[in-house]
Amino acid sequence: MAKLQITDTILRDAHQSQAATRMKTEDMIPALEILDKVGYWSLECWGGATFDSCMRFLNEDPWERLRTLKKHLPNTKLQMLFRGQNILGYKHYADDVVQNFCKKSIENGIDVVRVFDALNDPRNLEAAIKFVKEYGGICETAISYTTSPVHNEDYFVKLALELEKMGADVICIKDMANLLLPYDAYSLVKKLKENVSVPIHLHTHNTAGTGDMTNLMAAQAGVDIVDCALSPMANGTSNPSTEAMVATLKGTDRDTGLDLVTLSKAAEHFRGIANKMKAEGTLDPKVLNVDPNALLYQVPGGMLSNLISQLKQQNAEDKYYEVLAEVPRVREDFGYPPLVTPTSQIVGTQAVLNVLMGRYKMISKESKGLLRGEYGRLPGKVNEDVRKLAIGDAEVITVRPADLIEPELEKYREETKGIAKSEEDVLSYALFPQVAKKFFEFRDAAPVAAPQEDGVRTINVVDLS
Ligand code: CO
Repeated sequence: MAKLQITDTILRDAHQSQAATRMKTEDMIPALEILDKVGYWSLECWGGATFDSCMRFLNEDPWERLRTLKKHLPNTKLQMLFRGQNILGYKHYADDVVQNFCKKSIENGIDVVRVFDALNDPRNLEAAIKFVKEYGGICETAISYTTSPVHNEDYFVKLALELEKMGADVICIKDMANLLLPYDAYSLVKKLKENVSVPIHLHTHNTAGTGDMTNLMAAQAGVDIVDCALSPMANGTSNPSTEAMVATLKGTDRDTGLDLVTLSKAAEHFRGIANKMKAEGTLDPKVLNVDPNALLYQVPGGMLSNLISQLKQQNAEDKYYEVLAEVPRVREDFGYPPLVTPTSQIVGTQAVLNVLMGRYKMISKESKGLLRGEYGRLPGKVNEDVRKLAIGDAEVITVRPADLIEPELEKYREETKGIAKSEEDVLSYALFPQVAKKFFEFRDAAPVAAPQEDGVRTINVVDLS
């Protein structure tokens, strides 16, 4: 078997999972030259929650971050995470917005676009796949992994074959909640390798403590690429550590060929950043704990903390286990959607409402939308009684949801006349109108900074010794 390739998530999923996506561009720059020498398959560094977080919390322009990363990483493919027709937001956008976002992401430096849909409805991936390829990007199409009576190996193989036919250059198994157990990973990867001809890329977490074993078993079964994070922000709710994987495979037929000394130099920098974030409180060491509840309730780690904070706001923390038990019931009523953004929030919130107010006494707008088909086709059979309570006799959408949305780019261009300085700004606004507007105001008010010189910028990193 060929060497196992690694995607490092230190610049995206690692800090999104452990530190609320608060890593700044200036925290990344000093390590980029070393990262570029490692020989990764790709560096995941953009998309997901980073776009929103840049503007909302860090007063950074996400597009500027991307251009900076590209400049310092000329030899490594840059990868982003893209939520299909939702792009990086939480609702469906028209195809013209998807098209322009793909175009601008690739123009500004993205090489690999990992596209996923929470419901695994291929129609929600169609436009993104087409446009990523049209603008010269590598399209990695993801299967949102989950377990349920309808989600079995055959289901995933069939889906992978369909995605391959639609033009996927790589197929990703996206196990956002660390539900894919090691032996199941072995079996699923084997089946996919037998049936699909494009490379298979595995993304898992270590929430329940099985992530490293899952990656190893997948490597044994012939997976082509796995996601890892450099050790200072690996494990727990994040991805398994890069160095552990590299060391494990040294001298085997899956040897990654990566150099542990180079990795250790890069890790040294991020250890400083992680320590700084712990001191500031943005990285809570709690995220490092293994949480077997993720396996017991099939609830992603990030969702557990969300539920706790929702219950706290209602002074109902004592209802935590009742809510956890309600999540799988709501999920069944809703036709077993995988729990990933945005379905994890929709199902979680509905479970909280059911426990606090009585079952389906109050149904959120988002639950209604999901049951009406606004997010696409639900994977399994929906509880029709619940659907009736939610939407009455309203017709369920069966066409591709985006077909019902008129082109909207012109409208966003009109709305941002005078405040947007570029087409990129228009897209930032399209995705996060209030947040982008506030950011533009901040940017306009800020004094013009002196251009920064390459390589001479010093960063205030917490003691590295
Ligand atoms: Co992830």
